[in-house]
Amino acid sequence: MSINLPALPYEKDALTPTISQKTIEFHYGKHHAAYVTNTNKLIENTELSNQDLETIIKKAANEPSMSSLFNNAAQVWNHSFYWACMKPGGGGPPSGAIAEKIGSAFGGYAQFVELFKNAGMTQFGSGWAWLILKDNHLEIMKTSNADTPLAYGLKPILTVDVWEHAYYLDYQNRRPDYLSSFLEHLVNWDFVNSLLD
Ligand SMILES: [Fe+2]
Repeated sequence: MSINLPALPYEKDALTPTISQKTIEFHYGKHHAAYVTNTNKLIENTELSNQDLETIIKKAANEPSMSSLFNNAAQVWNHSFYWACMKPGGGGPPSGAIAEKIGSAFGGYAQFVELFKNAGMTQFGSGWAWLILKDNHLEIMKTSNADTPLAYGLKPILTVDVWEHAYYLDYQNRRPDYLSSFLEHLVNWDFVNSLLD
């Protein structure tokens, strides 16, 4: 068993103009693919070679000598999750169960947008902003580099990648614009709702 690069849930040009085909080609085809290759190299001939990705991440998270494996394996998971969190023609206010949960947790969609964007903007350097479930309650958090809520037993239901490789070709240093476009045009709320069951 090895860790696989999952197929993108849409064509590489499907998220244009919010995210260009060129960004996807590098981000998915080079960065994400490299994390998969590195993870497989690091687990080869070890006791983790037959484990699934989540098990590998949780084991490596608590073992300082496995920091390289943690970084690569967590990035494999984070990116696969990020692709699933987007769809062409997505974004805007949600409907369904997530809309109610956002209302009760944050006061409304506008407040959620402000808090989620702020998490992404204030993540210093590379990392991720997240919407997570903790004890069935929604929270917003941010993580550095490869770090992931999975490592803390939390349940991610939405993420946005704020590494520069996610937006620099399309937005240069304008991370806030990338975050606004992500929320307005890309979020796959059907996927988020499916994770609430
Ligand atoms: Fe990334």
